Amino acid sequence: MTELLPRLRLPALATGASLDPTGLFAVPPRQIWFEIGFGDGEHLAWQAAANPDVGFIAAEPYVNGVAALLSRIAAENLANIRIFDDDVRPLLAALPAGSIDRVFILFPDPWPKARHRRRRIVNAETLSALARLIAVGGELRLATDDRDYARWMLRLLLPRREFLWRARGPADWRRRPPDWPSTRYERKSAAAGRTGIFLSFARL
Ligand SMILES: C[S@@+](CC[C@H](N)C(=O)[O-])C[C@H]1O[C@@H](n2cnc3c(N)ncnc32)[C@H](O)[C@@H]1O
Repeated sequence: MTELLPRLRLPALATGASLDPTGLFAVPPRQIWFEIGFGDGEHLAWQAAANPDVGFIAAEPYVNGVAALLSRIAAENLANIRIFDDDVRPLLAALPAGSIDRVFILFPDPWPKARHRRRRIVNAETLSALARLIAVGGELRLATDDRDYARWMLRLLLPRREFLWRARGPADWRRRPPDWPSTRYERKSAAAGRTGIFLSFARL
């Protein structure tokens, strides 16, 4: 936390600031992928190791999660991850339009009680921000183990003209694709008898 984080942390964002993500990496990356709420970082570290020519932006305010990701970065010598250790929302506003090729929001906090649903990170405002950020031809990947949140995600996304749900049949959302490793949250949820729902949307 004291040595590695200052080297990998995104600069503090002043109000109205803009941040070019390609400039964050020593070698300009082929694409920029962005994980929001990476938890302990196992999905992110797996993707970064499997795609060394992609630059990753990783947002997570949970300090133990940031520490866990830093341990993975150090152990695997990953050079393609930059960290935003705060609430992602100001960062969404600072990134330029079309600057991100892929976004992951995996098992976001479900907020199952009706009066708490407005706290869900997948909401109309976030989706408008992501529609601006994701380049045409890019991808938005979502996962949840909460049926109501899955319906909520689809209700918000299906009417949007910027996104197309890629599923052709139930296997496409019931089964985790091979390039999508499981996360700690998913494993805990499976142990409790819940199943994950995996949604992939193309940015039109
Ligand atoms: C249920 S956990 C899932 C973590 C991980 N994606 C996984 O599958 O194991 C949801 C994560 O989203 C993070 N989160 C919640 N609100 C956030 C926000 N506004 N910006 C960034 N991360 C957020 C939380 O700190 C938490 O680590």
